[in-house]
Amino acid sequence: MRLILSNALLLLSLLGPSAAFFNTQNPISSNRDKSSLHVSIGLGPEEIEEEKQLVPGVDYEVPDHEAYRTSRRSKLDEKCDKWFGALLAGEEDKGILGSLADDARKVLITPVPLINEIELPKDDPEWTPYVATKLPWTPLTPAFGLEEFGLPVPRRNAETWRHFDVAGMVEQDYSGTPEGNGLELEFTDEEVATTRANLQVKGGWLPDDECQARLVYINGRFAPQLSQTNDFVSNIGSADEVPEDMKSLLGRLTDGFTDELAAPVPVGDDDFWTSFKKLSGPNHNVGEAISQFAVNTQQGTACFAALNTRRTGAVAFVNIPEGHDKDEENKKPILIVNAVTSNGGASSDSRGVSFHPRCLVVAGEDSFSSLVQSCVDLDSDEAKVSTLYNGFTQVFLKKGAQMNHTFLEESGGIPVGGVEINDDDVEEGQEKPRDIEARRPELKDTHLEVIDVQAMGDDASYDGILLSVGGSGRIRIAHSVTLLRPGSHAGVKGFSLSAGAQQTDIKTNIHHIGQATTSEQLQKNMIGGRSTGSFKGRIRVEQSAQQTNSEQLARTVLLSDRSRAWAVPSLEIIADDVSCTHGCTVSDLSEEELFYLRARGLDRTLARNLLMYGFAGEICGLVDPSVLEAVGSEKGLQQRVIAKLENIVPQGERAIKGDFQSV
Ligand SMILES: *[C@@H]1O[C@H](CO)[C@@H](O)[C@H](O)[C@H]1NC(C)=O
Repeated sequence: MRLILSNALLLLSLLGPSAAFFNTQNPISSNRDKSSLHVSIGLGPEEIEEEKQLVPGVDYEVPDHEAYRTSRRSKLDEKCDKWFGALLAGEEDKGILGSLADDARKVLITPVPLINEIELPKDDPEWTPYVATKLPWTPLTPAFGLEEFGLPVPRRNAETWRHFDVAGMVEQDYSGTPEGNGLELEFTDEEVATTRANLQVKGGWLPDDECQARLVYINGRFAPQLSQTNDFVSNIGSADEVPEDMKSLLGRLTDGFTDELAAPVPVGDDDFWTSFKKLSGPNHNVGEAISQFAVNTQQGTACFAALNTRRTGAVAFVNIPEGHDKDEENKKPILIVNAVTSNGGASSDSRGVSFHPRCLVVAGEDSFSSLVQSCVDLDSDEAKVSTLYNGFTQVFLKKGAQMNHTFLEESGGIPVGGVEINDDDVEEGQEKPRDIEARRPELKDTHLEVIDVQAMGDDASYDGILLSVGGSGRIRIAHSVTLLRPGSHAGVKGFSLSAGAQQTDIKTNIHHIGQATTSEQLQKNMIGGRSTGSFKGRIRVEQSAQQTNSEQLARTVLLSDRSRAWAVPSLEIIADDVSCTHGCTVSDLSEEELFYLRARGLDRTLARNLLMYGFAGEICGLVDPSVLEAVGSEKGLQQRVIAKLENIVPQGERAIKGDFQSV
């Protein structure tokens, strides 16, 4: 029997038991679950549903959408719309991508056409509770479809933004533009030298002989004197420089919002699918292009991706040739640095600014490459304006291409340690650490990053390692890997550190579309101080992705009883012949392991530090070795991460320097 698909409840979303909120103040401070499922469910798209007919005998009133939208919109929603509208800015700020920028704007300002959905009477055979809750001709979900924009902008109540500080973000005015956006930076020799020295200290540097190429951007502007380009790594500074065959890639939105798949997906013997629409049919919600349905796969990022296309002032372009480095033993990385100064490059007015770093990477057939992206601060000035960093990185892998991708977010200063101390316990005459943290200017900054990876050739392999150890007030990184072709592989490893009064939100999306694709994910989060950390890891296996193998493990450690964590693993499986495991834990540092180390003579503080370093080191140790060891041991990534971990150690038992175990 074929199951009727018009039932959203059939959407198989296996939320782990930790789809909840944990706080160590509760007696239950540890929750463990590891489940292994071999799923066998015969769902899947067979044909597109016919258009629904009005039901005879039901009196339909055609609603006024605009009145509905404005009546349902909350004050905060309205603020969100205004905030986003201000970021769109005027013609003079339209960035360098010419007609691509215009297209992006058009998508953004054209509201989604609302599809007339009829409400079925309860005795109709197609009736489902899902259909019944829908008003006729109204948007599907209250959080989306109520915007004035063509792509969903942030909403506090939208699932994808639920654990993010939307209200705090839209409170900030980021509507300014860095001076000279779109123009290359010109430095004097002296400025080149000081900037280089600065980047070295911050970790955003590799010498010429340790990398294949290096592109340096400061506040979104290209700095040619600090960069080293080659045949396949260059900066795109104007629309004329965009190669013809790259236009369609640069114009793409994120998974789910672009109707065309990045590569045709083989189904059956001679059949290919080329559209997202085909993947699962309307009710598995990969969706219609540019529709409310598509929200399911895009993590709330489509509007920011389009905004980036609209406003970016420079594109880091990496086009790795076929067979590159295949037989090379000493494979050097390609480095892309985005440095931020404390005034964000703003002109004299003190309005906050937004910049939109863009990176397009295409890995040719059977090429080998290692890409390192690094976000760092260049200075720390008192006179700081608030900044919105809206990065968009696209990676396309052709047949047999293998890529290691390291993304390091280290900008935004360092959160103040000890903010978790109770007010009563702060010594007389001392200022409360949390008051100091509240004044830290970087708390007003927001870093949004979209990393969209598409394996568009057979047997392509992508390994991403993402470290979020920066200090911006709000950090949201959405990492999405789409495995379009048979045999492709994704490794997604991440470590995020959240401290002070930060809010960190990590989203991952691994989308299995091609047959016999594999993925392996390990996400570790460490949350201390009074910060909030959330992680949503989604794995979706389409009907076309039989014989898929996917493993996901997420571990979150809470260091303080004031910190909060959400962890939401999510498996959506439509194919029936797959093997998927996922596990998710939220806990304190393990008392058991502490006990073990203490029994071997280590004092409690040292034992705890060892556990912390070990926890972080498992992921940190995977980044490209040249970065890990860069610039001697003193300023290497390892030392910087140790410094940040020391800062986050719960106070009262101040840490002492220990060995970084796994690095
Ligand atoms: C990617 O990383 C792995 C593990 O560190 C290494 O074995 C491999 O050679 C790297 N590949 C490239 C292309 O650098």
